[in-house]
Amino acid sequence: MDTRTLSDSQLVELLEGEESVSRNLIDEYYRRCIPIYLDFLGIHWHTGFYREQDTGVSPLDQERMVDHIAGLVGISEHDHVLDVGCGIGASVVYLNLKYSCRATGLTPVREQKLLAEKLARGKGAEISIDLGHAESLPYPDNSFDVVCFFESSCHFADRQQFFHEVFRVLKPGGRLVGEDWLATDLSDLTAAEKWIEPICKTWAIPMLGDPEEYQTLLKSASLADVEVADMQTLMPLHKGFAVTDKDQQILNEEIEDATSPLLRLTLKGLVELGKAMAAGAFSIGQIRATKPMQTE
Ligand SMILES: C[S@@+](CC[C@H](N)C(=O)[O-])C[C@H]1O[C@@H](n2cnc3c(N)ncnc32)[C@H](O)[C@@H]1O
Repeated sequence: MDTRTLSDSQLVELLEGEESVSRNLIDEYYRRCIPIYLDFLGIHWHTGFYREQDTGVSPLDQERMVDHIAGLVGISEHDHVLDVGCGIGASVVYLNLKYSCRATGLTPVREQKLLAEKLARGKGAEISIDLGHAESLPYPDNSFDVVCFFESSCHFADRQQFFHEVFRVLKPGGRLVGEDWLATDLSDLTAAEKWIEPICKTWAIPMLGDPEEYQTLLKSASLADVEVADMQTLMPLHKGFAVTDKDQQILNEEIEDATSPLLRLTLKGLVELGKAMAAGAFSIGQIRATKPMQTE
């Protein structure tokens, strides 16, 4: 299918439809949603690491999330870091400037790559951005000290293949680290249907994973020291989501007024995320693993 010829309404209809969302459709969604994401999220297209004492949320929360994830594996100037699904490059630029690491970003969307390169030029970062997909990383074996991801793996149709690729491109002893949207328990089929499927339909996600799935896939890819933790136990995660009736009401009013199909989809998505989080069916997980020094 030539997704570029679709109208926005047709694109949204396909995303919300019964068919599992294809990689082409996800890429096209991300090509068209750049202005909406910039408006709602700024340059970092991921959740923040919130603090109890702050009123409201800010871009500093998103930078704090990058610091938190970097800290989990001790990113330093000695590392070459790959950020898979780097969006418009905010994390990869931040990592290069803050930790002096060599940093490479990967995105499948040319428009994102161009914006990431522009961001790097504007901030004086020395990074490279490549085009490609997570399931076939365009790098030789044993290339990176760290592979990281920020809310991109939820979109990968074949997360197992991604983790095999991570194993391949990491140097022995290299570290994988990231954070992403998670279903809290996919064995609860009623909750999955009621809370998780609407999230997938509104955010171009083939299917969210849960902690058990991530652990199984990481171990199947021969990664060691696997850890998947619910970030609700670490910080007031709910601050970034519309969990209250009042927040939900505001979003529902905005949906009524929205004329653009993609804006309406985003607002509906925010409603679904808030409901699922309030129901305890959705959270953000931090994920960490290492490639053993000795591999067979
Ligand atoms: C929510 S955005 C996060 C972007 C970035 N990590 C950030 O935090 O600013 C998800 C990103 O995953 C990318 N993505 C989706 N499917 C992908 C795939 N199969 N391989 C690589 N990246 C993908 C999208 O293009 C998008 O940039």
